[in-house]
Amino acid sequence: MSRIAILVSGPSRGSNMQAIIEACRDERIPDSAVVAVIASRDDAPALQTAHALGVSTAVVNPREFPEADMYGDALLWVLQKAQPDLICLAGYMRLLPAQVVEAFPMRIMNIHPALLPLFGGRGMYGLKVHQAVLESGMKVTGCTVHFVDEQYDTGPIILQRCVPVEDADTPETLAARLLPIEHATYIEAIRLFVQGRLRVEGRRVRVSE
Ligand code: GRF
Repeated sequence: MSRIAILVSGPSRGSNMQAIIEACRDERIPDSAVVAVIASRDDAPALQTAHALGVSTAVVNPREFPEADMYGDALLWVLQKAQPDLICLAGYMRLLPAQVVEAFPMRIMNIHPALLPLFGGRGMYGLKVHQAVLESGMKVTGCTVHFVDEQYDTGPIILQRCVPVEDADTPETLAARLLPIEHATYIEAIRLFVQGRLRVEGRRVRVSE
């Protein structure tokens, strides 16, 4: 049984979180369970959904710690208690503390709503990403699931899926077209992980049959 912990931030809706929980329950992600959802604020909408789905929740609020390092230690402690095989960031907007990244090498994933390494980095989240895609004139966009390293959006890429950018698109319509693709791509990446089919070689993630 693979144990999955999910990290969300304050404003997170939790739709990726919910998709992962449901995919574990109906075995699209085999032999796995979401054992904890950890939010950075106690009013995160995703927490309500996690409660309603009967998943254990915890809050570790960075604002309650005088130093960033202390937040990192507290988050690491809560995560270690959950004993996850995999940690999934699902709308977690902060840079993950270094001690957490070090404790779970190539065992933390994130989903980003663009085709990395384009349109990533600090401050690139939510509708800002889709606005930047539209301004760039690109005719396709997509989502990226990647392993998490010490920086924003730079870890080895596991899966990417594309959607077209249409003439009439706004940031909102692009986000709406992409969201179900995000859910399916994240579920697929987690399935490959729990099946032991991902092998990281430098920047490349190879998928075995
Ligand atoms: C998604 O667009 C994801 O790509 C990004 O944050 C958003 C979270 O949405 N990392 P939700 O909370 O999962 O609905």
